[in-house]
Amino acid sequence: MLHVLQHPLAAHVITHLRDKTTKPATFRTLAYQISLLLAIEATRGLGTEDKLVETPLESMTGQVLAAQPLVVVPILRAGLGMVQPFLDVFPDVSVGYIGLERDHETAVARSYYCKLPELAGRHVFLVDPMLATGGSAVQAIDVVKSAGGKQITLLGIVSSPEGVAAVEKRHPEVPIFTAALDRGLNAKKYILPGLGDFGDRLYGT
Ligand code: PRP
Ligand code: URA
Repeated sequence: MLHVLQHPLAAHVITHLRDKTTKPATFRTLAYQISLLLAIEATRGLGTEDKLVETPLESMTGQVLAAQPLVVVPILRAGLGMVQPFLDVFPDVSVGYIGLERDHETAVARSYYCKLPELAGRHVFLVDPMLATGGSAVQAIDVVKSAGGKQITLLGIVSSPEGVAAVEKRHPEVPIFTAALDRGLNAKKYILPGLGDFGDRLYGT
């Protein structure tokens, strides 16, 4: 269920995201661009319905997105950098929030906020740029399931094999879309080569 983005533009953007000299304003733009590519890839399976349309020359039957309410749920704070493409592309999307923060010593995520819309019957796109140990993503999927979410897709920008394995073990039916699959984790559970702390780089903290 792991999909790694294969596109020259994705490779280009991720390389600039990794560059430690990239400043927050550019970092946010790049985060938008890679998240848009991920959103498009992860929504390939959305249903469509026929619609008769008059072009300036003749009638034809085209396709439009079928009514299917989507929900995007960022894991705060870094996940906020991946939300805007969903709002721009899917006008009827709802947004929920899950606040999780990793402890600096243990790397175990602590929950500090949760506000979710109705999830029953809706496709939930959980967005978090970094899948390191997988602890945050696993916990967030637990929360979404407890709130009634059944169809869940996880989108990330940089993932580690350890994080992917943790999500696949606990939630094997959840597809994972990532822009890069990196080598592993360091002793402090940061992804190598990675891009550092995404939230700090996004918000200049
Ligand atoms: C980062 C990142 C993920 C988590 C990944 O957030 O955005 O949520 O770490 O690590 P894991 O897979 O080992 O759980 P962080 O807790 O640093 O909070 P922030 O987004 O507020 O910076
Ligand atoms: N969170 C980040 O922002 N970066 C990592 O490498 C791991 C967790």
